[in-house]
Amino acid sequence: MKKIRKAVLPVAGLGTRVLPATKAIPKEMLPVVDRPAIEYVVEEAKQAGIEHIVFVTGRAKGAIEDHFDRAYELETTLREKNKAEVLAELERNLPKAGSISFVRQQAPLGLGHAIWCARDVIGDDPFAVLLPDVLVKGEPGCLAQMVEVFEQTGGNVIAVDEIPAQDVNKYGVIDPVSQQGNLYEMRGMVEKPEIGQAPSRLKITGRYILQPEIFKLLENQETGNGGEIQLTDAMARLMTKQSFFALQYDGVDFDCGDKLGYLRAIAHFALQHPDLAEGARAVFETALTENKPTN
Ligand code: G1P
Repeated sequence: MKKIRKAVLPVAGLGTRVLPATKAIPKEMLPVVDRPAIEYVVEEAKQAGIEHIVFVTGRAKGAIEDHFDRAYELETTLREKNKAEVLAELERNLPKAGSISFVRQQAPLGLGHAIWCARDVIGDDPFAVLLPDVLVKGEPGCLAQMVEVFEQTGGNVIAVDEIPAQDVNKYGVIDPVSQQGNLYEMRGMVEKPEIGQAPSRLKITGRYILQPEIFKLLENQETGNGGEIQLTDAMARLMTKQSFFALQYDGVDFDCGDKLGYLRAIAHFALQHPDLAEGARAVFETALTENKPTN
């Protein structure tokens, strides 16, 4: 069985749901406690054994490339000021030379199109996709849990979790036929179904392990929900030819493409931060006391 070595992170999205914060900053660079959101996703990929990351970028996303590069002036200044700890931290987070690639999505034609843009760099092996809007807290990380399943099942594996019925129209939703433990087999999936029309309450979380045949299905550029080329539609077609599993992973996810989801992520990650947890708890408690609703 082929190992999952490469992951695609589509980072070309405009972040319209979190404007004005994202007017001049890529949404993936918004800080969650003390690091940009994207760093948590890259960590999750590395923990799952990913050796090469392909960022699908777009206009005005240069800050992401800079973040994963050396910053000579900054490093020299830190060295002169004997800031060894920060320097070591920067060094730890620097990808190995040649272990990241950037491809450009030239127009916002949808998630399916973004993934298709990475086809040449991915080649002919199964690969992972991690949507950087979604931060997942799990131990081990969500993708590592999926890789473990994939090593048993092969085929394609996606992560799912249960959502309230009134939220189904915001996500891709699966149509499960059977369940074994936390693993589902499916007969279909649908992107952003109307409330009351969804086949289940199991949403597609934003973590995927896919076979390269998905690229052929994305190639015909058919549009779906919202007039966009949808990854969900291509997966629904791949499912008729290859085995496909949905893993109800163990953990919690935060949709950072949404203002309150982003705030939830900050609160959770702060409360579990090795150095800041205690301080963060005090900050939140004080803020709650000082902002009691008056009625
Ligand atoms: C994308 C996918 C959707 C998935 C969601 C997870 O939607 O198309 O299937 O459930 O991410 O966050 P988007 O958030 O880009 O509209």
